[in-house]
Amino acid sequence: MKTITNFEDVAAREGEFQLATYKKMPLAAVRGRGAWVETSAGERYLDLYGGHAVAATGHCHPHVVEALRAQAGELLFYSNLVYSEVRARAAEKLVSCAPAPIAKAFFCNSGTEANENAMRMARIVTGRERVITFTGGFHGRTADSISATFLGKYRELGRPNVPGHLCAEFGSIASVAALADESVAAVMLEPIQSMAGVKQARPEFYRALRELCDERGMLLIYDEVQTGVGRTGEWFFAGSAAGAGVVPDVITLAKALGSGVPVGACLTTDAVAARIKENDLGTTFGGGMLAMAAVVATLEAIERDGMLENARASERHLRESLEGVPGVARVRGAGLLLGLEFVDEIAAKVHQALLGERIITGTSSDARVLRLLPPLCLRREEVDLFVAALVKVTVVGNARSSGSKA
Ligand SMILES: Cc1ncc(COP(=O)(O)O)c(C=O)c1O
Repeated sequence: MKTITNFEDVAAREGEFQLATYKKMPLAAVRGRGAWVETSAGERYLDLYGGHAVAATGHCHPHVVEALRAQAGELLFYSNLVYSEVRARAAEKLVSCAPAPIAKAFFCNSGTEANENAMRMARIVTGRERVITFTGGFHGRTADSISATFLGKYRELGRPNVPGHLCAEFGSIASVAALADESVAAVMLEPIQSMAGVKQARPEFYRALRELCDERGMLLIYDEVQTGVGRTGEWFFAGSAAGAGVVPDVITLAKALGSGVPVGACLTTDAVAARIKENDLGTTFGGGMLAMAAVVATLEAIERDGMLENARASERHLRESLEGVPGVARVRGAGLLLGLEFVDEIAAKVHQALLGERIITGTSSDARVLRLLPPLCLRREEVDLFVAALVKVTVVGNARSSGSKA
């Protein structure tokens, strides 16, 4: 196997041997530390997209790397057919971070798989089949999750869709109530809709959802694949003040949970767990030792480094620094899941211009909204660097062409 360091060669070989299903940025990542990624050309990029919302602990956090090295030397994998000390620790630690009455974890491998298992749990527990999700929500790309995704073109990609998926309007309790008959097993939502442009409902909406679910015998599922594991400056959106303290019956997680080692999870209550029997759910790789070591180390790193507090402080500093920056209409979101809403539809242009300044950001399905999902260890001076670059590309540069389509 030839070792390649030249970017054009890497891009050409990926292009030749990999399906072209992603719109890629023109860089080849080779190394990462904290909020920084180094490329094959030796350039350093400030990663405000956090490796696709995954690197919450920062790239290659030493505690996570050390835990993975140690676990790799002991046992890479054995399935749930055996007991494992590191799996026990991961489940205990994860549950201890979650709000009561969350009490049990089920491990899988990705966000879409976590959501499929959550919906299956709801069907088992209620004996009903239908699931209500929302306009603008994204839940993954496997059959059931993509059928639950009423955002842009995604659902169509999953045709023929899994039947029994109903769509309510995000933020409207009346639209949920109109659909919630005795055939509905669950209501599932991204409590902050990330891909839709970082959209959040008022606290009363989450409270009303909880009440409606209790009243009509439906389970409430929070897809916290993006909002979970400290992203909003709290361990979870569930139980947070922004969500009126509401705790759902199931929380789904992935992305940041393993700092880059693929792992997903469903967290649930004892009441739900009591209805799930042996063999109702399962997966070969879920709960493997390497992934579990990553979960334990990720949660420990967030805790030991005070990253929840840091995420909140970075959010405050960013919001203050952006006040008065021309072209920025408002900042949406919480903690370090933020959407910068521009007056015009220029998010893609700004994203592109920032890449030229060696800063990685994300776009969204809203052409006005630039998404930031940086590591939770983001430092004050890194926020300053971003704001200066943003001012340069929007005010001085040409990214701010009024009314232009991104
Ligand atoms: C809110 C949400 N749910 C589910 C998923 C699917 O996760 P995965 O890509 O790990 O299957 C994503 C991925 O972006 C997501 O943002």
